[in-house]
Amino acid sequence: MSLLVGIVGAGPAGLLLGRLLQRAGIESVVFESRDRGYVERRQRAGILEQGTVDTLRAAGAAERLDREGIPHDGIDLVFDGAAHRVDFLGTTGARVWIYAQTEVVKDLVALRLGDGLPLLFDTEVHAVTDLDGRPRVHHDGGTLVCDYVVGCDGFHGVTRGLVPGPVHERAFPYSWLGILADAPPVHHELVYAHSRRGFALASMRSPSVSRLYLQVPNGESPDAWPDSRVWTELEHRLADHRPHRGPITAKSVLPMRASVAENLRNGPLFLAGDAAHIVAPTGAKGLNLAASDVTLLAAAFDQLNRTGSPALLDAYPRTALHRVWRAQHFSHFMTTTLHLAPDQSEFDTHLQLARLRHLTASRAATTALAENYTGIAL
Ligand code: FAD
Ligand code: DHB
Repeated sequence: MSLLVGIVGAGPAGLLLGRLLQRAGIESVVFESRDRGYVERRQRAGILEQGTVDTLRAAGAAERLDREGIPHDGIDLVFDGAAHRVDFLGTTGARVWIYAQTEVVKDLVALRLGDGLPLLFDTEVHAVTDLDGRPRVHHDGGTLVCDYVVGCDGFHGVTRGLVPGPVHERAFPYSWLGILADAPPVHHELVYAHSRRGFALASMRSPSVSRLYLQVPNGESPDAWPDSRVWTELEHRLADHRPHRGPITAKSVLPMRASVAENLRNGPLFLAGDAAHIVAPTGAKGLNLAASDVTLLAAAFDQLNRTGSPALLDAYPRTALHRVWRAQHFSHFMTTTLHLAPDQSEFDTHLQLARLRHLTASRAATTALAENYTGIAL
């Protein structure tokens, strides 16, 4: 082992990078400010693209995913009060998997700790210095000198601020109320609904747990949404897909925003995952982008370690950002096609409906949606 990589953050990006580096014979130390239980329980993404599943399999981290993950071959789009299926498998040969981010994180944590590799919970990184030489990671327990540092510490982390350069941002004029309910899924596939009352999304975590989202105004409090109001609103927006009511076990409001750092590198410090970019959640790209970033980075460190060539590492910011902007465009397309903006005119709504009809009536348009949703190969 010749390289030592410091990884800030034990979300999916940091944990998967650690696993991929381990498989390439490269040493790493993962620092995480939160405790294990918090990281393993944080409710977030639910959809894995084919490429993410392939990476987890190649990393030897898909044993439970292969048993418990639920493959989905399409989605339903609801508009004009009716459901229309979008076939992924038939148009592109690709599919996606329902397997919660919490489970991906649990699997990667268990593997790393089981292999006795350093994963330091409750250890916040305060600064990374010496970016013109061997970088130093200053953390709660001391200082680590590494060859490289990868910032996988998310949108609120410390490493983003250490890479100078513009950050391009877009805020949307609405948020999501997300709930988790002990109730069977609304449908066997995901349902994305456009309605005159706003967007709704019916997803799932297992055959007995539903994950549901409602478009709400920015600044909304979850307290404004007692359980009965949530169910009634879902019933209105999901049209024929009537939700099964059950106990709601979590409720939170998420702002919808997008951001991309133009620069992903400062000397030996690289950014990956949400530290580098966030996408609006419509279309489920965030976790998958985090996985594709670290797949690229791991291959780059492997090349450097084996051959001494920094070619892939030098190319990383450009290679990663092409994929990021593709996903940004798709998420923006899905978001603006399905949500009602507060100042939206009747003309705008008709344009959305025309777009939705075309998406489901034209095989070419369906194929483009399916290609983007299931993920464009690295
Ligand atoms: P994070 O998961 O944010 O992990 C960063 C880690 O760094 C955290 O554990 C944090 O505690 C730690 N950290 C922060 N600062 C420090 C520090 N100073 N020192 C040490 N550690 C630190 N994406 C999808 O692909 N599909 C979906 O269906 C989807 N749905 C989503 C639904 C919701 C409600 C939300 C909020 C997001 C969703 N996303 C989805 C996005 C996805 O969850 C994120 O893109 C993903 O978590 C990014 O992983 P990450 O490892 O880059 O960052
Ligand atoms: C989920 C989240 C999304 O943003 C999405 O587009 C699909 C599914 C989910 O949490 O299951």
